[in-house]
Amino acid sequence: MKKTLRIAIQKSGRLSEQSVKLINECGIHFNNGKSRLKAVSYNFPAEFLFLRDDDIPGYVEDGVADLGIVGENEMVEKAKDVLLIKRLGFSKCRLSLAIPRDKAYTEPSYFQAKNIATSYPRILHQFLKEKQISAHIHEISGSVEIAPSIGLADAVCDIVSSGSTLLSNGLKEVETIFRSEAVLLGNHQASEEKKDLIDQLVFRINSVQAGKGNKYILLNAPKDATEAIVNLLPGMRSPTIVPLAMSGWNSIHSVVQEDQFWEVIEKLREAGAEGILVVPIEKMIL
Ligand code: PRP
Ligand code: ZN
Repeated sequence: MKKTLRIAIQKSGRLSEQSVKLINECGIHFNNGKSRLKAVSYNFPAEFLFLRDDDIPGYVEDGVADLGIVGENEMVEKAKDVLLIKRLGFSKCRLSLAIPRDKAYTEPSYFQAKNIATSYPRILHQFLKEKQISAHIHEISGSVEIAPSIGLADAVCDIVSSGSTLLSNGLKEVETIFRSEAVLLGNHQASEEKKDLIDQLVFRINSVQAGKGNKYILLNAPKDATEAIVNLLPGMRSPTIVPLAMSGWNSIHSVVQEDQFWEVIEKLREAGAEGILVVPIEKMIL
């Protein structure tokens, strides 16, 4: 029987939409009825399990799933014996301590002997230990942000992304203790056949990520400015130069890194470039 990769992704929440998007960008498609727990891809040997993110590290460790996409926060908190195969660059967030907005705060010793509500007792315990603070950790599994207002805790330690949850609950962030993003997890027991499929998937993810970090740039330049312009382009290798029908002009094509292109574009204009087009790259095979 042909092997199928089982990939666990979050059923609903901060990671779910972008996890599916990444899989789709890798050219892997499946039909997913809304409330289903499982979907099978029709063009890649993979099936998807839609689970609570908290449960994903455990399922990957046990081998129920071969791979999982989950926040690094869950991976570290659950402390399962799993492999971090790749950071995925989305769902970036932080785990922070927050206190009621009207309280004055200067340093971590504020938390001495305080009650802190969290769903991340392990990571919080580690932070408090390092700072030599003894506080009471009150573990709750959800709606942590309301704990101070109902008198359950003095402070919270919770995930912050936009900050709007804290804001609407009258809390302010005072210490960041952990930074997180989505990661791809695997386990130790993958067979050779599955490792091969995992390599194929990682190769596709790398191509999608490389494409996102780069733009394809096309521009027209007078022939006598071509050399100066080519020198400004940080391109993959050397740019493509094609003569235009209009004599005395070239079209120059190259790839520039997303985070460099504004800077480069200003210089290109100064050097005489015209008709500059910046085009997204869907995939880039390195
Ligand atoms: C976190 C946290 C807040 C929210 C913060 O929940 O518990 O509810 O995100 O985001 P904001 O700063 O943008 O308002 P998460 O998505 O991790 O859900 P879960 O704990 O139910 O898995
Ligand atoms: Zn969760």
